[in-house]
Amino acid sequence: MITHPAFESAPWTLREIELDLELLAQTESLFALANGHIGLRGNLDEGEPSRLPGTYLNSFYEVRPLPYAEAGYGNPEAGQAVVNVTNGKIIRLLVDDEPFDVRYGELLAHERELDLRGGVLHRTAEWRSPAGAAVRVRSTRLVSLVQRSAAAILYEVEPLEGPLRVVVQSELLANEPTDRNEADPRDGAAFESPLESEAFLSRDAAATLIHVTRGSGLRMVAAIDHAIEGPPGTETVANSSTDLGRVQVASDLAPGERLRVVKFLAYGWSGQRSLPALRDQVVGARTEAVHTGWEGLLAGQRAYLDEFWDSADVEVEGDPALQLAVRFSLFHILQASARAERRAIPAKGLTGPGYDGHTFWDTERYVLPVLTYTAPQAAGDALRWRHATLDPARERARELGLDGAAFPWRTIRGEECSGYWPAGTAAFHIGADIADAVLRYIAASEDEAFESEVGLELLVETARLWRSLGHDDASGGFRIDGVTGPDEYSALADNNVYTNLLAQRNLRAAADAVSRRPQAAAELGVDLEEAAAWRKAARDIVIPWDETLGIHPQSEGFTRHQTWDFARTRADQYPLFLHFPYFDLYRKQVVKQADLVLALHWRGDAFSDEEKAKDFAYYEALTVRDSSLSACTQAVIAAEVGHLELAYDYFGEAALLDLDDLEHNTRDGLHIASLAGAWIAAVAGFGGMRDYDGKLSFAPRLPARLERLTFRLLFRGRRLKVEVTNTKAVYTLMDGDPLEIGHHGETIGLSPHEPVTRPVPPSSNGLLLTSPTAARRAAQMRPQPRSRAEADAGTALRRAAARRPPAIDGG
Ligand code: BGC
Repeated sequence: MITHPAFESAPWTLREIELDLELLAQTESLFALANGHIGLRGNLDEGEPSRLPGTYLNSFYEVRPLPYAEAGYGNPEAGQAVVNVTNGKIIRLLVDDEPFDVRYGELLAHERELDLRGGVLHRTAEWRSPAGAAVRVRSTRLVSLVQRSAAAILYEVEPLEGPLRVVVQSELLANEPTDRNEADPRDGAAFESPLESEAFLSRDAAATLIHVTRGSGLRMVAAIDHAIEGPPGTETVANSSTDLGRVQVASDLAPGERLRVVKFLAYGWSGQRSLPALRDQVVGARTEAVHTGWEGLLAGQRAYLDEFWDSADVEVEGDPALQLAVRFSLFHILQASARAERRAIPAKGLTGPGYDGHTFWDTERYVLPVLTYTAPQAAGDALRWRHATLDPARERARELGLDGAAFPWRTIRGEECSGYWPAGTAAFHIGADIADAVLRYIAASEDEAFESEVGLELLVETARLWRSLGHDDASGGFRIDGVTGPDEYSALADNNVYTNLLAQRNLRAAADAVSRRPQAAAELGVDLEEAAAWRKAARDIVIPWDETLGIHPQSEGFTRHQTWDFARTRADQYPLFLHFPYFDLYRKQVVKQADLVLALHWRGDAFSDEEKAKDFAYYEALTVRDSSLSACTQAVIAAEVGHLELAYDYFGEAALLDLDDLEHNTRDGLHIASLAGAWIAAVAGFGGMRDYDGKLSFAPRLPARLERLTFRLLFRGRRLKVEVTNTKAVYTLMDGDPLEIGHHGETIGLSPHEPVTRPVPPSSNGLLLTSPTAARRAAQMRPQPRSRAEADAGTALRRAAARRPPAIDGG
């Protein structure tokens, strides 16, 4: 989409220079603002036209039944789905009695700009009403990263020609109608009027609405207040009813005069607090926002982001579009998590209702590796949320006849909300993904309190699950049978390599943590015998190997299955799950998303270089990327095994997934894991960063078309900068104590402010991708050589958009 003429990209801003209503749904997601607690879709200020109005509060949900044709033991019966809460973004405008609505009259000028450094969304519109009145509207919207419960909008109106009579109607609107595409299983549930009014009040320039959900019984409060400046005679009146709080400002504007309205919004919700207590909390947050004032909120936002970018920015030289895309990705990851504060990070963040607002393994596997090195506080908070859901996870394990904790495949509050057994409950690897995120966070942050308060118990309860889920076979192996690995086109398979290798690390790390903290472990009921059983299971875990092909089958028997008939699959039959029965996908060699290749990345320490190259070549030919979680991992391993140009394409795919709407469902919300994948592809792919057991190493190598890649990281209280060109890498410890890192196998000692330069060794070019499918896919994907001028013109974006058949869709 950013190749669409309506858009311009600049290093720090996504700019829309004309309004194309066809793109409205997508831009509502792209221009969403959030802080991890409040999320506002990028709907137009005046509320209409809109494709999907959306305002979300993290973890504020409604329950709904999960229906089954036939009852089955262990099927979750209640689902949770995110609610579109009271909309506080709406600012309607009447110009000489006519509503400002871009579908009528003439839109003389339009621009929206998402400013990634300022953390605001700007809009300018010049409009002539059907009756000929011409007006300029400017708005700037922010969701505060500093004041968690607050958002604000600056709204300015001025005549373009003659005098105007204007009325600004600033609203709180509950239970607004939504229009959902029910045909796609990834869409969220749409509730009709989910909010029941409990109270409403209005006074001066302020209004407050209080509602409760009917099923989940959660209470929410939304409150607005305004600072208004207009010419003499400007008048304000407020009124409210069950679902509407409205502040109206009437003003007569002569040419050169301006009406300036600052709207302060505050939100809060609770499942426990009384109405008066919650009301006062939110009214207090509103008072604080008014007290900080518009300029103060802007300055706080900028300062917060300056600090973030100082430790997180990734500079990509040689492809301006990818430069913007990577920053856009980091910005949205921060928005999804910064102030979530022990609440979940949903797969769509707070940008849309897709997947019902659920959190999956996406958080621990994709998002937390980014946050751990860029905003570690947010990573720790997300894991503290997981820890807070241990009770339902333990209950679920008991229900399944297992020990320890069985974390849900999809959830909002902790209960399993996936009614789909093979790709839901059977995807037990989520436990090991959580354990892996715990270990990475501990190693990178050295947050001691975290290990004792949260880490140990998560490691212990996940290790217990593995010990009870697996079994010792007659030949001394520890097998984990009948699970679903990351590839959802295979189900209930035995000894999935990714699952087993991650479980192995989980079991070992739990036993190590128990030895470090015997006292705390004893309180969790762990004795030496139990820890020894984990070590034994880890030692004996079965990792299947195909002798004939000399590669790892992703699960036992996989490589004996029939290969999917790619030659006969039409481009419009992707994603396959919308066009073929699952039974057929399950019994054939076709891979939805990186699975064995994911193991090559996160358990790369368990494979030789040759195995990596051969495994990658094999799975590359089978992976259709029907999930957005695939491209970044393929980029990382393609880069490691020497397919740098292929890696570059995958980097583009991960980074541009939403900007180019490659999956055709950005309307439902951004793909937060794929956005995280943009960072992963850059830093772990071209930077070659690995962090096995707390040892930080890099093996940087750039594709020919990138001139320079610079990234920053936080690691054990230090800030590190890595600059890579085609010939050398420069490592700079920007602050903190000396640190040892690896560079292509060499250990380097870094001292603060003393850059160390090392040559980048040439790439071995990897194994040729020889199978017919690989050749086909590679030809389809590999870009033509292009000049720098073409790159500047954004051809990378067009290429990425064109690469996949238009009907390809995915998670
Ligand atoms: C993927 C899952 C992912 C989910 C949410 C699905 O399409 O296969 O791995 O967790 O989308 O992003």
